[in-house]
Amino acid sequence: MGMVAEPKVGLPATATARAHPNLALVKYWGRRDPALNLPANGSISLNLSGAVTTTTVAFDRTQVADKVAINGKLADDVAQRRVTAHLDQVRALAHFTYRATVVSDNSFPTSAGVASSSSAFAALTRAAVAAAGLELSLRELSILARKGSGSAARSIPDGFVEWLPGRDDESSYAFSLAPCDHWDLHVVTVAWPLGPKAVSSLAGHDAASTSPFYEARLASLPRTLDRVREAITQRDLGALGMVVEREAMSLHAVAMTSYLADRPWMSGVTYFAPETTRMIHTVQEWREGGLEVYFTLDAGPSIHLLCAACDVAQVMRAVQESVDPGAASILVSRAGRGAWLVNGTGGAGGPAGEQSLDVAVG
Ligand code: PMV
Repeated sequence: MGMVAEPKVGLPATATARAHPNLALVKYWGRRDPALNLPANGSISLNLSGAVTTTTVAFDRTQVADKVAINGKLADDVAQRRVTAHLDQVRALAHFTYRATVVSDNSFPTSAGVASSSSAFAALTRAAVAAAGLELSLRELSILARKGSGSAARSIPDGFVEWLPGRDDESSYAFSLAPCDHWDLHVVTVAWPLGPKAVSSLAGHDAASTSPFYEARLASLPRTLDRVREAITQRDLGALGMVVEREAMSLHAVAMTSYLADRPWMSGVTYFAPETTRMIHTVQEWREGGLEVYFTLDAGPSIHLLCAACDVAQVMRAVQESVDPGAASILVSRAGRGAWLVNGTGGAGGPAGEQSLDVAVG
């Protein structure tokens, strides 16, 4: 912890920020450095405009401990400790030790199947840095967010984003490959409220290198990253789709063959649910029938469908016909902006204020 000094702003000092969760097209799976969240490989994502986390941070000299509320409830011990550890980084940079009240809310149900830790730590970083009176570059914000949750590094910049694995703390950050309006690629997220997953993504990352397929996946990634970058630049869904699908399956091949030392009864991690597998087959049938739609999967049972703007209505109809509408949430997104201050001087890459959300049903 840094020395105690007067902060640049008067206290109490408050700021509110928002961030979208992001969806990886090329996934981060495996950490080279767990303390710094340095990833084993580079990754590429887009921010999901259909979901947003709003976080307010208020530093107060009279408080003796951090208070954290998430979605209207006091945070559990694990979340509380993670937020305090993150605020400690900000306090060290600001050279003060004041405690904070943090209030964070998601616009989307926890069961929506989007990685809420990416938007949570991006919004927390943006709000805490502003409340502490610090001025950081986008690169510095991304590095700081990465230490809260790896994928949060990618929710700081706008639109389509690449996260460099880097060599060290300073060189592992995310930047915008293309702005939100570059391409109206749509994502339809289908999620089933199946409760918390048995193996967290952190445990999955740390077991990844035990899979015999891990090195093969890492060796294949430079070419995958090139192809995905190029497909985004060219706005070419046909070139993107199959590469993204196979890339997601390669993560799951590693997860399913990883050895979890603390769970000797598990032969590997299967994040799929029967609903996920059914949907994988269904998407392939739709494609055979001429509908251009591709899937990707994260460390959970939800499935994200990629399609062109002109096909969203047809994909939505097809989804509603094949899943029980009472049993699943459906969220529609396109590329969203990077984390932004709500009443401040501007977002990561655009004017202050809120981006209108796309349809969110469920
Ligand atoms: O940031 P984490 O530790 O929640 O890891 C994210 C892992 C995946 O969502 C499966 C892949 C990714 O790149 O977002």
